This record gives sequence, C-alpha cells and structure tokens, in this order.
Amino acid sequence: MTKFFGNLHAVLAVGLVAAIVLIASFTGWTGEGAKAITDDVFRWLHVFFGILWIGLLYYLNFVQVPTMPAIPADQKGAITGHIAPKVLFFFRYAALLTVVTGIIVAGHGMYLGAALSLSGTGGVLLIGIGMWLALIMAFNVWFVIWPAQKKVLGLVEASPEHKAKAATRALIASRTNVLLSLPMLYAMVSANLG
Ligand code: HEM
Repeated sequence: MTKFFGNLHAVLAVGLVAAIVLIASFTGWTGEGAKAITDDVFRWLHVFFGILWIGLLYYLNFVQVPTMPAIPADQKGAITGHIAPKVLFFFRYAALLTVVTGIIVAGHGMYLGAALSLSGTGGVLLIGIGMWLALIMAFNVWFVIWPAQKKVLGLVEASPEHKAKAATRALIASRTNVLLSLPMLYAMVSANLG
C-alpha cells in the first residue's frame, strides 16, 4: 500500500485508467458521439493543467514568497536549490498545456476566431476576454517570470544588482497573474459554451 502511494507515477497512472473507464462508461450511458467525447476529454485536460498552473501560482504567492524572509539564510538553499526549480518546471509547462488545450476546446467549438477577436456576443465574448487574460498570464510566465527567476536562482549568470532587479520583475509579474486570475476564472467557468 505505502509502496504504491509512495510512487506518484503509479498513482497518476491508476487515476488516468479510472478516468478513462469513467469516460468510456459515461459516453456509453449517454451515447455521446465522437465530437462530444473529444470536447469532454480536452475540457478535462484543460481544467487539469489549469488547476496545476493556478495551484502553483497561488502556492508561490500565498506560501513561498511571503515565507522566504522568515527562513534563516543558511536554509534558503533548500527552497532556491531544490523546491523552486521544480515548481517553475511544472508551473511553466502547465501554463503551456493549459493554453494549448484551451485553444483546442475553442477551435473544436468553432468559436476560436470570434473569441480571440472579441467579436462574439454573450458566452463567446466572455470566454474571449477570459482567454486574453489567461494568454497575458501565460506570456508573463514564459517571457517575464521564468527568465527573471533563472537569474534569481543562479541558473544563468547575473550580478547581484541584476538579480535584485530580476526578483522585483518576477514578483510584479507574478502578482499581476494573481490579480488577472480572478476575472479570468470567472470568465472560464461562466461562459458555458460546452
Ligand atoms: C490558468 C488558466 C486557466 C484556467 C484555470 C482555465 C479553466 C477553465 C475552466 C474551469 C473552464 C470551464 C470548463 C467547463 O465549463 O467545462 C474553462 C473553459 C475554457 N477555457 Fe480555460 N482556463 C484557463 C486558461 C485558458 C486559456 C489560456 C485558454 C485559451 C487560450 C482557455 C480557453 C478555454 C475555453 C475555450 C473554454 C470553454 C468555454 C466553455 O465552453 O464554456 N482557458 N477553462
């Protein structure tokens, strides 16, 4: 038992099998066609990666960043050397996969163009606003936060002055993402186009 639950990959694999069984059963009960199943599966993947991304964004802003000043200097290495690089790996790839699956859901729903051009009405306009907020957040992750954090964590060469400036840039971009996440999430769950 402990051996199984101690192995994250084994737990994820069994969870995936359970999800596939539920998807197969559900589509059997409802007789959903291939289009509806594809939509359901990409929507499910979209929400999974969205939870991982936003979950790590909130962990960084609610837990790690506010706690760092209280950690003795000789212990900070545990965070900057071990925890932070792992967080930033899953954070940026979850952001990328949330964007990809979100675009697939919109494309599959035949409203991608209307959503991104903000030329739709009702739910299509709302999801368009949500998608642009989330795309700005994803841009911040890949082109502001990650390059800055590479300097802060010493993954790339930087003088102490550049490290300090990068830390401020990363904090402002990360807090901007927390701010944008609130209207973005409302748009995501209220468009109801599915
Ligand atoms: C952290 C970022 C994001 C989170 C947490 C998130 C979460 C969600 C959630 C919970 C839903 C509702 C699913 C449902 O009602 O079945 C949703 C729907 C959707 N999301 Fe996102 N999303 C994020 C980013 C994005 C991005 C970047 C895009 C595209 C560029 C996108 C496009 C969509 C679309 C098209 C829908 C379907 C709307 C509907 O049918 O009502 N999302 N998202």
